[in-house]
Amino acid sequence: MNYEEVMKLALERGFYFPSCEVYSDAQAGFWEYGPSGVGLKNKFLELWRRELIRRDGMLEIDGSQIMSKSVFEASGHLGNFADPIIQCTKCNSTFRADRTIAEISQIEIPESADLEEFDNAIIQNNIRCPKCKGDFDKTRKFNMMFRVGIGPQEEEAYLRPETCQSIFVDFPRLFKTMRGKLPLGIAQVGKSFRNEIAPRQSLLRLREFYQAEIEVFCNPSKLQEVENFSEIENTVIRVQTDADPVSMTCKEAVDSGVIPNKFVAYYLGMLMEFYEKTGIDVTKSRFRKLGDKEKAFYAEVAFDFEVETTIGWLELVACNYRSDYDLSSHAKMSKEKFEVMDNDEKVLPHVFEISMGIDRSLYTILEHSLKDDKEHQRVVLSLKPYLAPVHVGVLSLVKKDGLKEKTDEIYLKIKRKCDAFLDHSGAIGRRYRRLDEIGAPFAVTVDHQTVEDETVTIRKRDSMEQSRVKISELESIIISDTSFP
Ligand code: GLY
Repeated sequence: MNYEEVMKLALERGFYFPSCEVYSDAQAGFWEYGPSGVGLKNKFLELWRRELIRRDGMLEIDGSQIMSKSVFEASGHLGNFADPIIQCTKCNSTFRADRTIAEISQIEIPESADLEEFDNAIIQNNIRCPKCKGDFDKTRKFNMMFRVGIGPQEEEAYLRPETCQSIFVDFPRLFKTMRGKLPLGIAQVGKSFRNEIAPRQSLLRLREFYQAEIEVFCNPSKLQEVENFSEIENTVIRVQTDADPVSMTCKEAVDSGVIPNKFVAYYLGMLMEFYEKTGIDVTKSRFRKLGDKEKAFYAEVAFDFEVETTIGWLELVACNYRSDYDLSSHAKMSKEKFEVMDNDEKVLPHVFEISMGIDRSLYTILEHSLKDDKEHQRVVLSLKPYLAPVHVGVLSLVKKDGLKEKTDEIYLKIKRKCDAFLDHSGAIGRRYRRLDEIGAPFAVTVDHQTVEDETVTIRKRDSMEQSRVKISELESIIISDTSFP
């Protein structure tokens, strides 16, 4: 289903909604997750931990969101993390130069292009302010970091624009205290902050957003030596280098040189296996190799993992080979040592990054899972059962004749084992529909027969099939069908 239908579901069923919405000065680009959204997000992250962090024996940290100025001087964000903007000389409205030019004249100019390229396109195509038709001033750069003042002296610090900087800064301590060995993956989930000029489309371009980042530290002379490569060598990925995406196994991608080495291919293969398990339709995905002007300033080679949705291709993960860009910059700025021993060799590790946008991934899961079941006049969110915010709805057919008490008793028994939702009121058909819309794989109904023979009806979300089972069997049925693969 499309963006508007996902939005309606998100607002009406507690997935997400705008922040501070009761106030007129609420700023764009800030959204909250409601209970259904939090349930989905937590389970998505549990899957991420299982399929990437634990699978590869990585470490996970939880760093500060506010970091010192030196961090971002060293990382290059103070100098380079800027978008090209244009301002109207008449009404003073500000726009992103690349997007405004693309929207008005369909000319694609990469955001890191020289500023004169934007100015030339504006003049040659007579591009004017979309609001008042005024002329634009010359294109300039706008740094997207949020500055904060620490303590009464308001010392300069910044909200992190990417979670990974704490991983780089903490690397020497982590490698030593956790008895690290290369290659070593270090991961972090958390919020990042970017002062976007034009936040839009709810979760798709936020000013405060969630990332799940993995930084894999490696010996650059060993990028073809990957111990577990056989685990993913036959995994099929779709890679786009220039024209259309081509499906190939990870092994074929390395052998043909489409992916530069086994090390990068190993993580792209793992990422693909992870996304398959989220329920996203991976036949609509591609790893797109970025050109020099599209890459972030710290990336040597970059592939974006993108998925097609009703509003176009969305970048869900940036996979960047950052080389020793970060560690050598922090070593220079802090004067600390960032080299480590790899057996007998002293190396300054290189970094391959898998930087996942959680909010966009959740949006894509919702869009790809939401179905309009016209035959049964219902909307159903066919989430993978292990990602469903609610595993089972527990419903009483009617409240009288002891059915309410029996329903409460069943709910109390199972609610600590799985995510259960108790519902006594309203027409039973409507209650089933509501559960279908939040993706609950099961609904259990207590009726008059229950008090006679200790059985309930269990209804499956996708097939709508109903069967009678003993109350004593409920827990094992629900747990086995909703556990992680
Ligand atoms: N760390 C990469 C990114 O935030 O895009």
